[in-house]
Amino acid sequence: MESKLRSRNWFGKTGKDGFIYRAWMKNQGIPSYEFEGKPVIGICNTWSELTPCNAHFRELAESVKRGILEAGGFPVEFPVMSLGETLIKPTAMLYRNLVSMDVEESIRANPMDGVVLMCGCDKTTPALIMGACSVNIPSIVVSGGPMLTGKYKGNDIGTSDIWRFSEEFRMGKMTQDEMTVAEACMARSRGHCAVMGTASSMASMVEALGLSLPENAAIPAADSRRKVLAQLSGQRIVGMVKENLRLSDILTRKAFENAIMVNAAIGGSTNFVIHLLAIAARIGVPLKLEDFDVLSASIPLLANIQPSGKYFMEDMYYAGGLPAVMKELDGYLHGDAITSNGRTTKENYADAACYNRDVIADIKSPFNKTSGIVVLKGNLAEGGAVIKPSAASSHLMKHSGKAIVFDNIEDYKKRIDDPGLEVDETSVLVLKNVGPKGYPGMPEVGNMGLPKKILAKGITDMVRISDGRMSGTGFGTVVLHVSPEAAVGGNFSLVETGDIIHLDVYSRALRFDISDEELERRRKKQKSFSPAADRGYVNLYIRHVEQASMGADFDFLKGMSGSEVTRDSH
Ligand code: FES
Repeated sequence: MESKLRSRNWFGKTGKDGFIYRAWMKNQGIPSYEFEGKPVIGICNTWSELTPCNAHFRELAESVKRGILEAGGFPVEFPVMSLGETLIKPTAMLYRNLVSMDVEESIRANPMDGVVLMCGCDKTTPALIMGACSVNIPSIVVSGGPMLTGKYKGNDIGTSDIWRFSEEFRMGKMTQDEMTVAEACMARSRGHCAVMGTASSMASMVEALGLSLPENAAIPAADSRRKVLAQLSGQRIVGMVKENLRLSDILTRKAFENAIMVNAAIGGSTNFVIHLLAIAARIGVPLKLEDFDVLSASIPLLANIQPSGKYFMEDMYYAGGLPAVMKELDGYLHGDAITSNGRTTKENYADAACYNRDVIADIKSPFNKTSGIVVLKGNLAEGGAVIKPSAASSHLMKHSGKAIVFDNIEDYKKRIDDPGLEVDETSVLVLKNVGPKGYPGMPEVGNMGLPKKILAKGITDMVRISDGRMSGTGFGTVVLHVSPEAAVGGNFSLVETGDIIHLDVYSRALRFDISDEELERRRKKQKSFSPAADRGYVNLYIRHVEQASMGADFDFLKGMSGSEVTRDSH
């Protein structure tokens, strides 16, 4: 095996080069035998106190290291830029591609034979996998795990309740003091959001793709078994290096199809669509927006987890975790897809048991026959848009109404509570210029709050349409990711207040009433888009980011460059 190790191109050298490569490692107190043909395993760590969901990762990395050492590997931990969903402005999504570049170049440039990707908060998972795919050495993911369920005034709470608290606060039904207490009650342990938001959907995606050991998705961060999983993952990556089991061996079309079906069954985030498209494009597996609709159409909702259901990730773990969900999907999944532990998908879930049918349903009696992501098309979204039916209101799935158009998020904030706004519950709220290029960075503002005067009537949902994203913890009849986004032209940029919009989730249609002549007249009047940054990373982002329907990656990052580096540094 030694001659095959990539790290030997550094540590196995004689003369000046080998001297330099080894000598500066030895200043860390590392003995010579560590360099003698052991697989060098990178631990790619997104630890940061500014990413609270990942703040326990230094401790978790110690468990990974124990596993690597046990299996005869040599662990080397390294940091990459971390993305905390809650603190980063204007949106963490602006930096997903930047982190993926950091990860890709850090892995390729350094003497690693395999890598453990430590992921938690939303964007850290796709960013690390995208970067690793473009190098394609043996890699395994260790997720940080969800928080324990929040407890407030005798009720279970999680991130999805923030949207409810926010509406109650706006209506004067909740005080600031109560909000402050609820904050502490919700975030009462280490870990990422405790609902089936984007972080939990990403951790589930990882497990469904076969990129982690079984049970990665749901073990709470505070549960000692999370550390055990980290240690076993450290052990396993050494085996993966010995077997040369690379990402491209695991990430086949079958694996992607499995992930889409699992995401449907768990009521996963709409952000899953963008991230999976981007990962597929890096590893070179053909995947289209329409695949999400086709593959999830016959999958019912099995996980009764917020925001589509009632419970939390902690409950899902105690009920049997993702393997129990996957076992229910036995008739749908590709059981022969290979996973990181060397076993097939089916072998991993074959012995799974469900301990609570109120949390994970039997496929014969699902919580909701509707699940997954529906892809909408029509003259309002020529490149497609998405909606998550399980988080929407059934009475709005087929709806026509007058558009109330906001040109950007500032316009929305200024006017939404204006008593003079001509809006009723049948109106359709439209928010433009929150797409990848337009914002830039595609923020999670798509589930925009309803006007106060509508809330005052006791109405809690309206049809909302934007070219932005929605937090995976959000809910409502919210159409997202409209492509092409307003900033690059296309019909969405031309819709005006008063136009009649038709949404029909059953027939996958999103259109507005407009004649060709009127469309043309508006197009001629339209001003061309100019980037909002004239230098730096944001300028690069605006020039190269692709539309949401393609994964919002940079056009020059698709595919992989492999792991070979032919020139030495000295
Ligand atoms: Fe980090 Fe929700 S804020 S996962």
